[in-house]
Amino acid sequence: MPKQKRFLLRTLFSLAPLCLAATGTLSNAAADATEASGSATPSATVTLGDDHSLLTGIPGSGKLTLEEVKNWLSRPEQHVELTVTLPKGLDAAKGNLFIPDDNPITRAKIELGRQLYFDPRLSSDSTISCASCHDPAQGYGAQTQFGVGVRGQEGGRNSPVAYNRIVSNAQFWDGRAATLEDQAVGPIANPIEMGNSHESCVADLAANPIYKLQFEKVFGDGVTIENVGKAIATFERALVTGPAPYDFQNDLDTFEKVFADDLEYLDEEPELKEKYDALKAAIAANPMSESAKRGMKLFAGKANCATCHAGANFTDEQYHNLGVGMEADDPDLGRYEVTKQEKDKGAFKTPTLRNIALSAPYMHDGSQQTLAEVVDWYDKGGHKNPWLSDKMKVLNLTDQEKADLVAFMKEGLTGSFPKIQTGRLPE
Ligand code: HEC
Ligand code: HEC
Repeated sequence: MPKQKRFLLRTLFSLAPLCLAATGTLSNAAADATEASGSATPSATVTLGDDHSLLTGIPGSGKLTLEEVKNWLSRPEQHVELTVTLPKGLDAAKGNLFIPDDNPITRAKIELGRQLYFDPRLSSDSTISCASCHDPAQGYGAQTQFGVGVRGQEGGRNSPVAYNRIVSNAQFWDGRAATLEDQAVGPIANPIEMGNSHESCVADLAANPIYKLQFEKVFGDGVTIENVGKAIATFERALVTGPAPYDFQNDLDTFEKVFADDLEYLDEEPELKEKYDALKAAIAANPMSESAKRGMKLFAGKANCATCHAGANFTDEQYHNLGVGMEADDPDLGRYEVTKQEKDKGAFKTPTLRNIALSAPYMHDGSQQTLAEVVDWYDKGGHKNPWLSDKMKVLNLTDQEKADLVAFMKEGLTGSFPKIQTGRLPE
């Protein structure tokens, strides 16, 4: 085999079979690091999504007690700064991790953020938590057209998903929050979401000895609204999707393309054959129907989806006008409200499509109920308006092609979520 191909083989396909093996060793590694490095800041590496211990809370059941939290926090590994890598699939975006220098990831901070995310105490009347609108059981979105906040109030936008935020910087449909930290404190004081004030939220948390202790141990300067944002943002960064059948199929397709000339002579290339067999076994364990496979080709080809839903997280992180909602007399102008630039009128941020089958309804205004409806929208080229993206074209898809695209999104793009503890909140 030529040298160049050998190199490709090593770099492209260095994955362990199915990539699920690397769990369970972290706490030892962290403890070792702590012992070995003495006073220097120890660190440890974890693979988000694969390491299921990150989001499963403090062991035990029922409400968290001060004693349990104290014991758990007394272990040095909870405070070790974690260097994170991404699970298979999303890892292609490893060059785009957004972790602010002043907000390093630790297990204790993820856990504090987890509690805050699920705790309705952050709202004015203790009825609404972040999870009310970004619910793990509803694909980390909400199956209502608009977010429903305190006293049943509704906003005008659909709840987007709260995962894979670590590879995304500007947040909201219009990108108005520059970071996840900025985003996280917004809903608390939004009158129609959690309806609280930052002052009273901070006062309530500081009055709870369990929260107070955690903030002091994690941040030094105790309960502040900035620290609430930092903890929740850290929790959200750990919330990533695992590999989907697409990722395995994509590896196999890439291999077959790169080694097209060698496939006939595989018996003479044991190293190559071993990789090939491993890739075929991986897709066999995570299968996609023929329809979904055709849909995968259409997605990047005739249907033009990958122009905007690009890269490991299926988004270019840009803003585009598809014409959604633009037939209204007074439409939501999206990105324009942030930039005041004419070209941004009616443009919204391209959302991720990973696990998209789990978070209907769709679009910034929740106006489309099913993925079939979404595909029909693109097929007709969106809704004509003066600011329609020039990437939107009439596609002339056949009924079969439309069904194939839907099958691809449902089967090909659905992967796992990390295990998560949704209860275990402070007394
Ligand atoms: C009442 C429902 C509701 C509650 C409660 C709520 N959100 Fe949201 N969330 C939304 C809606 C709706 C949007 C989109 C708003 C927009 O783009 O203008 C959103 C946007 C987001 C985004 C941006 C995602 C992206 O792709 O840009 C994140 C992250 C997020 N919320 C996290 C949180 C966190 C953390 C909390 C708790 C502190 C929270 N949300 C509370 C409804 C809610
Ligand atoms: C011009 C860029 C662009 C192209 C091309 C494109 N999309 Fe999108 N997609 C977006 C944007 C932007 C949104 C959000 C628009 C809105 O809410 O107004 C979106 C939303 C979606 C949603 C809803 C996601 C959610 O969380 O609500 C799905 C599903 C989707 N696109 C699938 C596709 C498919 C399938 C194709 C190809 C047939 C495609 N997209 C082509 C940019 C694009």
